[in-house]
Amino acid sequence: MDRFKIQGGRKLQGTVRISGAKNAALPAMAAALLTADTVTLQNIPHVRDIITMAKLLAHMRCRVESPDLPPSEFIIQAETVSMREAPYELVKTMRASVLTLGPLVARFGYARVSLPGGCAIGARPIDLHIQALERLGAEIKVEHGYVEARAKRLRGTTLRFPKITVTGTENILTAAVLADGETILENAAMEPEVTDLAELLIKMGAKIEGVGTSTLRVEGVDKLHGATHAIIPDRIETGTFLVAGAITGGELSLTDCEPAHLKAVIEKLRACGVEIKCEGDHKLHVRAAKKLVAADVTTEEYPGFATDMQAQFMALATQAQGVSRVRETIFENRYMHASEMVRMGANIQIDGNEAAVTGPTPLSGAPVTASDLRASAGLVLAGLVADNTTWIDRVYHIDRGYEMIEMKLQDVGANIERISGREE
Ligand code: UD1
Repeated sequence: MDRFKIQGGRKLQGTVRISGAKNAALPAMAAALLTADTVTLQNIPHVRDIITMAKLLAHMRCRVESPDLPPSEFIIQAETVSMREAPYELVKTMRASVLTLGPLVARFGYARVSLPGGCAIGARPIDLHIQALERLGAEIKVEHGYVEARAKRLRGTTLRFPKITVTGTENILTAAVLADGETILENAAMEPEVTDLAELLIKMGAKIEGVGTSTLRVEGVDKLHGATHAIIPDRIETGTFLVAGAITGGELSLTDCEPAHLKAVIEKLRACGVEIKCEGDHKLHVRAAKKLVAADVTTEEYPGFATDMQAQFMALATQAQGVSRVRETIFENRYMHASEMVRMGANIQIDGNEAAVTGPTPLSGAPVTASDLRASAGLVLAGLVADNTTWIDRVYHIDRGYEMIEMKLQDVGANIERISGREE
């Protein structure tokens, strides 16, 4: 298993190119199941979850090709999809495999997808996906650890998600586009990744109104066609590098990003004293605070402060003057990184879903273990500012969602190395 070895204390300086958003690319790849034509997706990040989704589509007998190396463009053709099943072996490594459920049942009238089960950050059920598909007329059986959905043709309906769910909204949107009649999805997630998916579907011939709002109106069509689409920039990678610049006392330019998707994060970092300038539509410049001060954060659905930025913010808060109160409202168990940061010298008190981070505390390098994707990003950031050496175990978590993070960090001056399991 690979590990990261970080020698902290370097100020980061230079330019980082932001990759395409994993969480937008995954539903876009699943949406290619909706047509027999070719769907070409550009700006796909080269991360483990994307490789898993490509494997899953290939398992279903789709053609998945990429002309470049590392792949950033994917050409997907779901002409013959003789295998309409997402097996446990793939779903257990990537929950987003469940995104194939909606498109498969909408186009072929049948899907069998393994239940994802819990993960490090909480129970994460898919009950809302299932209930919504039933409302669209699918007959669902849950047995032997699999969800089996059948429908001659899905029927449009009005439904309201009792709780906002990102992949739930995406799954139902990709089902409703081929349903008979109109579907109104209320309390839909408004994340930019949902909007990006809707824009791809519209290019494929779908009729969707209300894109970017919490009510999506879909007029089902009989058939969709191929399209070419460039995936939006990764707002979480962008936010992570904003914190990397700020926490190391450095100065970074981030290119190919979408500042409009990070308003809540930028606002919060500015409240901590970090200087952030938008330079044109797709560039950000971050300069560390003269004096970093504490700020309170509550994670919320978009456009609020993203839960996927909570661990990174906590790393920053350990270096800020005062008490930062962090409240996690999306996932019930998302403080696994806190105890590792405490082992590095942070002062963090957890009480239920609230964490109080008192700073600044010098961090000292230590061996730590990554528990999930964003927790690992928080630990990398802590390692960049810690004295001595930090070893991060289980970096396969970070490889799921960050494209070449150690190389991007090395390019701007960080002392971080990947120690391959084979070298030990
Ligand atoms: C997506 C993102 C993830 C992000 C999360 C919240 C992808 C691939 N992943 O995950 O990075 O952290 O949004 O922004 O896009 N819930 C239920 N029943 C359901 C579905 C969800 O109870 O059927 C609960 C979840 O347990 C969680 C909350 O709703 O507490 C929000 O989850 P959801 O928005 O569905 O997260 P994901 O789509 O899995």
